[in-house]
Amino acid sequence: MNSKSLDDFIAVGKVDDIPDGTSCLVKAGGKNIALFNVSGKFFAINNICPHEGGPLVKGKLKGFVVGCPWHDLKFDVRSGFGTDGGGYCVASYDVRIKGDEVLVSSRCRDY
Ligand code: FES
Repeated sequence: MNSKSLDDFIAVGKVDDIPDGTSCLVKAGGKNIALFNVSGKFFAINNICPHEGGPLVKGKLKGFVVGCPWHDLKFDVRSGFGTDGGGYCVASYDVRIKGDEVLVSSRCRDY
């Protein structure tokens, strides 16, 4: 069960600073997190690719899928699940909007 209170969320930036189709690197809970804006909705996954450590924040975003910039493994930014069928996945984090601020959970989602 996923029972997070607003206390678990950390303000990482302003909504207007992360335009549609872009990403930025943020820190929450001591982790480097890649934050993506897809059509006005925000999604957060661990920035480190589980293959060899590529920075997912620098990957190319196509729809809800980001390709790692190093060897192009692909991950769904909504869940962190790999979409290549190779079993790779990254942690994902809940995102909330409060006023004009983007908040990211300091704890990854449980599946
Ligand atoms: S480091 Fe990401 S695909 Fe290889």
